[in-house]
Amino acid sequence: MSEDKKGYLAPTGNRKKVTALRLREMKQQGEKISMLTAYDYSMASVIDQAGIDVILVGDSASNVMAGNSTTLPVTVDQMIYHGRSVMNGVKRAMVVIDMPFGSYQGNPYEAVANAVRIMKETQADCLKLEGGKEVLESVRAILNAGIPVTGHLGLMPQSINKYGTYAVRAKEEGEAGKLMEDALLLQEAGCCAVVLEKIPAGLAGKVTEELTIPTIGIGAGPHVDGQVLVIHDMLGMNNDFSPRFLRRYANLFDDITAAVRQYVNDVKSSGFPSEGESY
Ligand code: KIV
Repeated sequence: MSEDKKGYLAPTGNRKKVTALRLREMKQQGEKISMLTAYDYSMASVIDQAGIDVILVGDSASNVMAGNSTTLPVTVDQMIYHGRSVMNGVKRAMVVIDMPFGSYQGNPYEAVANAVRIMKETQADCLKLEGGKEVLESVRAILNAGIPVTGHLGLMPQSINKYGTYAVRAKEEGEAGKLMEDALLLQEAGCCAVVLEKIPAGLAGKVTEELTIPTIGIGAGPHVDGQVLVIHDMLGMNNDFSPRFLRRYANLFDDITAAVRQYVNDVKSSGFPSEGESY
C-alpha cells in the first residue's frame, strides 16, 4: 500500500496508467479489478485519485444523469460529452465508454464509424458493447480498427424490451450454455474483458475459470476477476433502488438532504454569509 500526498490510499504503489494489458496481468496474478461508473469530470477526478482501476462511462448515464427509465434513449453525442468530461479528470484509471443502444447493432460499418468517433472525440481507452454472437461482426470490425473492446453478457439493459424484466439471467441450462459460448466468442475475437451482469454466481465462476481475459461482475457473485457498481447506487444517492447485489458505501441522499436543509435555513435566517465570508 502507498499513500500519496493528499493521503489517499492507492491499492498498489504503481501509479502508472491502467491498460488492457494490465487487466490481463491482474487476472493472472489474482489481483481483483475495481471498476465504478462515472459520467463527469469532478466524480471521475475523485475516484481516480482514490485508486479505482477502471472507470466505466456507462450508458446508465441515461438513468442516473438524465432520469430516463431505461438506457435506450442516450445518444452517441451524449456519451461523447460524458466520456470527454470523465477523461478530463482521469490520470491513472483505464476509461471504458459504453456504445449506446442503436450505435453498433445495425451493421459493422456503422459500428466502426460510431466507435471511431467516440474514441477520437473522447480519447478514452476502450469501448463496451452488449451482446455475444449477435453483435460479433461489429465487435470484430471495431477491434480490427485498433479499438479495445469490453464485452457485456447476462442481463443486458439495452435489451430490456426483449426481456421485459431486470430479473437474474441465465438460470436455465440453455441460456447459461449460450452465455458461456458467447464469452468464448468474445475472447476469441480479441475482447480485453467481459462484464457479467446479474447471473448466478456459479455460472460466473465457471466463465471466469474458462476465460483467460478478466471477467468483471455486477450481481454475479464473488468468483469473478473484478467488480463494477454504478457510482450513484454505491454512494446511496438513490434510496429507491435496492437490488440484492448492491452494497452502499455511503448515504449521500441523506447527507446532501441535511446539507441543503441547513443551507436553506442559513440563507432564510441571514446566517449565511457571515462577515468573514463577505468582501
Ligand atoms: O451502464 C452501466 O453502468 C453498466 C454497468 C451496470 C456494468 O453497463
